[in-house]
Amino acid sequence: MKSNKMSWLYGVVSSMVITMGLIMGVGVNGNSLGANWGTQATHPLPAHIVVQMLKDNGFQKVKLFEADPSALKALGKTGIEVMVGIPNDLLAFLSSDVSAAENWVAHNLSSYVTSYGVNVRYVAVGNEQFLRTLNGTYNAVTFPALQNIQSALVKAGLASEVKATIPLNADVYQSSTGLPSGGDFRPDIHDLMLQIIQFLSDNGSPVTINIYPFISLYDDPNFPTDYAFFDGFSSPLNDNGKTYSNVFDANYDTLVWSLQKNGFGNMSIIVGEIGWPTDGDKNANPTNAQRFNQGFINHVSAGKGTPMRPSGPIDAYLFSLIDEDAKSIQPGNFERHWGIFYYDGTPKYRLNLGLTQTNSLVRAKGVQYLARKWCVMNPSANLNDPQVAPSVSYACANADCTSLGYGTSCSNLDATGNVSYAFNSYYQQQNQLDGACQFPDSLSVITAEDPSSGTCRFIIQIRTDTSSGAGSGSCGFVKTSASFLLSVFMILIISL
Ligand SMILES: *[C@@H]1O[C@H](CO)[C@@H](O)[C@H](O)[C@H]1NC(C)=O
Ligand SMILES: *[C@@H]1O[C@H](CO)[C@@H](O)[C@H](O)[C@H]1NC(C)=O
Ligand SMILES: *[C@@H]1O[C@H](CO)[C@@H](O)[C@H](O)[C@H]1NC(C)=O
Ligand SMILES: *[C@@H]1O[C@H](CO)[C@@H](O)[C@H](O)[C@H]1NC(C)=O
Repeated sequence: MKSNKMSWLYGVVSSMVITMGLIMGVGVNGNSLGANWGTQATHPLPAHIVVQMLKDNGFQKVKLFEADPSALKALGKTGIEVMVGIPNDLLAFLSSDVSAAENWVAHNLSSYVTSYGVNVRYVAVGNEQFLRTLNGTYNAVTFPALQNIQSALVKAGLASEVKATIPLNADVYQSSTGLPSGGDFRPDIHDLMLQIIQFLSDNGSPVTINIYPFISLYDDPNFPTDYAFFDGFSSPLNDNGKTYSNVFDANYDTLVWSLQKNGFGNMSIIVGEIGWPTDGDKNANPTNAQRFNQGFINHVSAGKGTPMRPSGPIDAYLFSLIDEDAKSIQPGNFERHWGIFYYDGTPKYRLNLGLTQTNSLVRAKGVQYLARKWCVMNPSANLNDPQVAPSVSYACANADCTSLGYGTSCSNLDATGNVSYAFNSYYQQQNQLDGACQFPDSLSVITAEDPSSGTCRFIIQIRTDTSSGAGSGSCGFVKTSASFLLSVFMILIISL
């Protein structure tokens, strides 16, 4: 998801899912809430563990942001429906000629369908590439890339089972009146949108939209908080007799109106991303995320829809399955915290997906952790030491400090706790290499005592194929030895 300024009517960009006949609390075949599985993490969970977790939680649909070989192989013969993404930076190449698209389909799609038995149902051609903030970078290449991918699907004999679509950010449409009925596509891309939608319609493909009520709240301090959720909004909008008490419905129906107005009233719609983050902002916490996600699931359960499409069902993919600690924080510090599961596959809060008998999230099984130890600020070190600020800056720049600061899970920490958090984040990210806990002036020390307190979790990283564990210097992280750090500190002059 990316942040974008919207009127208060709208949510923005992101991902999630729900589908037909979702009956809460009863695991019924045919339910299919989907999940986005992103892999921009320093220590991604092994693919087979994630796939087992998808199955244990009843997910029958998953969306990938690229044709990740290990994810696709692990999804083979599971029956789980897969949407495979094509990153925006491939669009220019795929638009250039049809053989490029044929190669992409052959290498990244057909082979997984035929050799591994992956149930690919959609190809997502780019992701949110018409965001205003991208300044039209992908406007010229998107439609030709879509056409070439469609031709390639036909040539590969996959066109009837695999549909091409484009996950759009919700700022491709707007409302002149502030009500859903005023909806239409943005003027600067209006013609382009109609070309694309005509093409999708001709090929029996859906429109995919990412909707982010969290961003409405994040971008606009005057946004009425309760309107972002699915309960308790006291002054619903009235749009010619249709009432809107949550921004999701209003946003979705603004798209329905935009389509209808342009002759595509029958297009099927997929919500490619929907969700709520749990950290990195004052509105991002497990309580709000649970309120939003459970509210959304209940709202669209049993096939219910929106005022414009009351019979539903809403087809949606939750954003997101697991936190990703290597995502860009350009949209905000919350960006690494969209998961319904933490980085290690433990549930963040109680959530009844309505997909299994258990009625709550099932944690990942078989996860291997590094040793039970942490890197913290040395109790005998001094906060006024001139190396403290550059050390923390280095650790945070290279690891993840998005849980520090106002309104976050670690906002309870004192200055020493902050330093320790930064050190530990770096140390864990570097697979507990001894050299990654040797900050200058003996500022840091390894401890076996868990420094976590309250909501603030000092993590222990997981073992992955590329992490060799404590003390081993064989894994390509030797550049982060203390001497390298020292040289970096000399040129870093950033104050806390
Ligand atoms: C997809 O296919 C192209 C070749 O057409 C290849 O360069 C690329 O690495 C493949 N994998 C992914 C994840 O896109
Ligand atoms: C879009 O344009 C703005 C203003 O000129 C610029 O700051 C920004 O970096 C541009 N973004 C991209 C993705 O090109
Ligand atoms: C819309 O879909 C319905 C049901 O599939 C169909 O009966 C109707 O003819 C369609 N209308 C248009 C304008 O395509
Ligand atoms: C801890 O770090 C955060 C983020 O850098 C900062 O906002 C906060 O003021 C710090 N707290 C203390 C007590 O230093």
